Formats: sequence, C-alpha cells, structure tokens
Amino acid sequence: MSSSSQVPSQIFDAIIIGAGAAGLFCAARAGQQGLKVLLIDHASKVAEKIRISGGGRCNFTNRDLDVRAPHKHFVGQNPQFCRSALSRFTPADFIALMDKHGIAHHEKHKGQLFADRSAEDIIAMLLAECSAGGVQHWQPCQVKKITFSASTPDESSANSYQIETDRGLVEARNLVIATGGLSIPKIGATDFGYRLAQQFDLPLIERAPGLVPMTFDGDGWQPYAGLSGLALPVEISTGSKKERVAFHEDLLFTHRGLSGPAVLQISSYWKPGTPLQVNLLPGVDLLEVLTQAKLNSRKLVANELAAHLPARLADAWVSRMPELQRPINEASDKALTKLAEQLSRWEITPTGTEGYKKAEVTLGGVDTKVLSQQTMECKIQPGLYFIGEVVDITGWLGGYNFQWAWASAAACAQAM
Ligand code: FDA
Repeated sequence: MSSSSQVPSQIFDAIIIGAGAAGLFCAARAGQQGLKVLLIDHASKVAEKIRISGGGRCNFTNRDLDVRAPHKHFVGQNPQFCRSALSRFTPADFIALMDKHGIAHHEKHKGQLFADRSAEDIIAMLLAECSAGGVQHWQPCQVKKITFSASTPDESSANSYQIETDRGLVEARNLVIATGGLSIPKIGATDFGYRLAQQFDLPLIERAPGLVPMTFDGDGWQPYAGLSGLALPVEISTGSKKERVAFHEDLLFTHRGLSGPAVLQISSYWKPGTPLQVNLLPGVDLLEVLTQAKLNSRKLVANELAAHLPARLADAWVSRMPELQRPINEASDKALTKLAEQLSRWEITPTGTEGYKKAEVTLGGVDTKVLSQQTMECKIQPGLYFIGEVVDITGWLGGYNFQWAWASAAACAQAM
C-alpha cells in the first residue's frame, strides 16, 4: 500500500469505522483505556439497528449463552472462534453495564433480555460511555480511501493507516472495521467492510441473508397462500440426517411464504434447493388422536383437527384431500394415517428468501482464519481489526448477535 501525499490533519490512537453496536462499544472501551479515538459513520444517526431491534426494545443479550460451546448458538465456518471473546465479556458483563446506567430490563423467552422502556436507552448508554472515554464522533462522514504505510521516510507514520474522508485526512496505527453486514440497506448497511478486506487481500466467506423470512411460489403453495397472519408452535428442521438442525419455535404464515422465529432460525442453516421439514403438531400423537376420534365422534375431520391446530389451517389442509371431507367416523384408516403423517412431517422447499431487505443478519463475512480470536486483529495486516457482524460469525435469533458485537468489541479494545 502506498502512503498518502496529504498531511494528516489529526493523528489518533484508533480510528473506528461504523458507529453501530460493535463500533460504539469498542470506541467507549478504548477511549476509557486512555486512547485517543475517532469514531466515523456515514449515516447521520448512530446505531440504527439497535434502534429498530427487538421491536424497539432491543434484545441486547441472552442469558442461555453457553460460552464453552459457542457452536450451539453461533453459525460460521468456525464458531469456536468466538469462544475467547465471549468468555471474556459475558452476558453478565453487559447486564452489569445496563444496571450501572439504571436501565431496567426483563427476560422474555429462552433467556432473551430486552430493555423495559426503549432501545433508545441502550443507545444513550453507549453514547454516554463514549463521552466518558472522550471519543470524537464524525458523522455523517464518508470514507473515501484507506491506505497503509508500512514505512515512511521519517518513520513517524510507519505502520499507520491514512484515512481520507470528506472531513479531511486522519491517521492511526489501529484501524477497526465495524461496518456490519448487508441487511437493511435502507438504514445504512453497505459492503464497506468486505471491500476493505479485499483491498488487503483477506479471504471472505460467501455472504447470504440470515434470520430471514422464506418465500414459496408455484401451485404447491396455493393452498397456504390464504393463511397469512396465522401462527403456531412447530418443530422445524433442515439438513441431512447426520447434520440435521431443528428448532422448536413459532411459525408464521405470510403473504409470500413463512416467517416467525422458527423460520428465521432455520434460515441461517438452510441450503438453497433443499427442503425444510415441519412438524405442525409437535408433542402430539395425531394418529392416536384421530383413531380415538373415529371411534367416538361424528364431527367433520376438519373440525376434529381444529381442536389441535388453528381452524384456518385445518380447513386449508383438509380442502386438498376429498377423502377427508366427511365425518371422521366415515374416513378411512388409510386417509387418517396419511393426514397424520403429512402434518407431522410437512416437507416444503423454499423458492428463496426475502433477501437483505428483510434479513436480520448477514451470514459469512471476513474469514476468521485470518483474525486473532483473542484480539480480532488481522494476522497478516498489523493494526487492522474486524469486529461484529462483518466477521464470519452469526448468532441465533435471541440477543446472540448483539452479545457477539459487545464481546468482539471488548476483545479488540483491550488489545489496542
Ligand atoms: P451494525 O449494523 O450495528 O453497525 C454498522 C454501522 O456501520 C452502521 O452504523 C452503519 O451506518 C455503518 N456503516 C456501514 N457502512 C459504512 C460506510 N461505508 N462508512 C461508514 N459507516 C458505515 N440482534 C440481536 O442480538 N438482538 C436483536 O433484537 C436484534 N434485532 C434485529 C432486528 C433487525 C430488524 C435487524 C436488521 C437486526 C437485528 N439484530 C438483532 C442483529 C443486530 O442488529 C446486528 O447483528 C448488530 O447490529 C451488528 O452490530 P455491528 O456493530 O457489527 O453492525
């Protein structure tokens, strides 16, 4: 990399690009350690994703995180990579920070913690922590070019990054990339981090939308197209027998397909062209239930089914099967067996996903092979760090992605 010919207007100890969850937290910690920190974002508002997360209350961490087994809650080529950072900055550490700022919070479902009042309280807390560390903020501010000088004639700028922005040229020995993933471009997501990685010849793992609703089309989807808004608890799974992944969560029918926590979770494991298996009645032996009903009831099959499933779904299902459009005592054993099998193993192949405009996260990113798991520093490019979602580490739904942002930020700040 060549050095820039312009004279830097200011020299910092660390420049952090991206004032989202990871960037703000890293800036605050580094500033409080005594470093002179500049935080740059191209958007006029910081932390837009925190603002819209968790329905406006930000699911900021998860108590169930098992730091000894990160593969349970994180996806990537090497989920073990996040173990060191996650064990040094835990959910309890972030909860302690919330408590220090008097931000009330509550647990909802499966260890998920939310702010009682608003995600804005968490943003205000992070900004207050940045102020306490004397962090300078530049936003909106466009980064035009980044160069690295391995050596300079007087050595004063050796091993430094020169960052050309629309507010002037700045320099630092530590450059932290916290520009996140590609999801929700309309609130400022860009591919900046990936492009910068390519500039320094760092390998990338292919990106794809994660935690995303799935779409279905064609005649096969017709019977379900009218079920939009309907939700029910299911067991959903994907993958071959050996590497099968399953979730017990709620599924939601949408205009274009399926969503809800069950589908968002499984979407991070789904491979295009492969099917999903859905048990619409987990924990119920439907064949036994239907066999008993056949002996004791004269209700229509759809009405019997509606005792266990939402009525609209029961109707839609039975409407495809003429042999079941009758009282249950007149239905054949064969037809009832087929019905029970179908509902406990509904196999459907998504056409695709709703893409980055609806995805909560981006799978893939900077390959963890080139990063230090202790510091997030690039092994082949001194002083260059990647933190948060830009790295090939993706958490489950439920506060895991923010915990990764906090923990990777803390590990990086400690190292600078
Ligand atoms: P983040 O996206 O937060 O920040 C990146 C920053 O970089 C942004 O401020 C952006 O403007 C800036 N930037 C981008 N390009 C730039 C450029 N070229 N120049 C300068 N700046 C640039 N997770 C969770 O754990 N619990 C939850 O409740 C939710 N809920 C949720 C809802 C929705 C709708 C979405 C989209 C996502 C979530 N998430 C979540 C995921 C979570 O928001 C996400 O994983 C973290 O915000 C990632 O933090 P980062 O700091 O890495 O990126």
